[in-house]
Amino acid sequence: SPSQAYAVCQGCHQPNGAGVAGAFPPLAGHVADILNAKGGRAYLPLVIVNGLQGSIRVGATNYNTPMPGFPSLSDAQLADLLNYIATAWGNDRLLKDFKPYTADEVKGLRKQMTPAQVYAERAKLELK
Ligand code: HEM
Repeated sequence: SPSQAYAVCQGCHQPNGAGVAGAFPPLAGHVADILNAKGGRAYLPLVIVNGLQGSIRVGATNYNTPMPGFPSLSDAQLADLLNYIATAWGNDRLLKDFKPYTADEVKGLRKQMTPAQVYAERAKLELK
């Protein structure tokens, strides 16, 4: 069943994770690509907590709208949300060696930064 916390995401990324072309990037397929990239596991919680600002390309489509962060999510809510977006919409079939996030792990991964700093972290991933 969907993570309760996904309710705050679905207005933009849509209940089926498909996003809206040119406005909100898809999470279906794309979250698996992020997690399969080196550094992706640490990057993903940074986006959710702090947001993201900068021009990105997902598939053949460009996005350049800022995403707000959700710093008030608890560690448990954040772990639950990450595990949901990692495995929903067929992402589970695309993942290599995924272990569910725990609240304890997420506590160590969340760091406060600006959306532009999160964008700088994204540039270090080797996203295909
Ligand atoms: C980007 C997840 C809420 C709009 C992203 C990315 C992820 C994500 C993982 C990064 C994609 C990448 O680096 O390639 C989530 C989750 C949410 C959420 C889990 C709920 C906690 C929202 C909301 C909005 C939104 C509410 C709209 C108000 C966007 C936009 C981008 C983005 C526009 C691209 C930002 C850019 O181009 O710099 N989201 N999101 N997201 N999200 Fe969200």
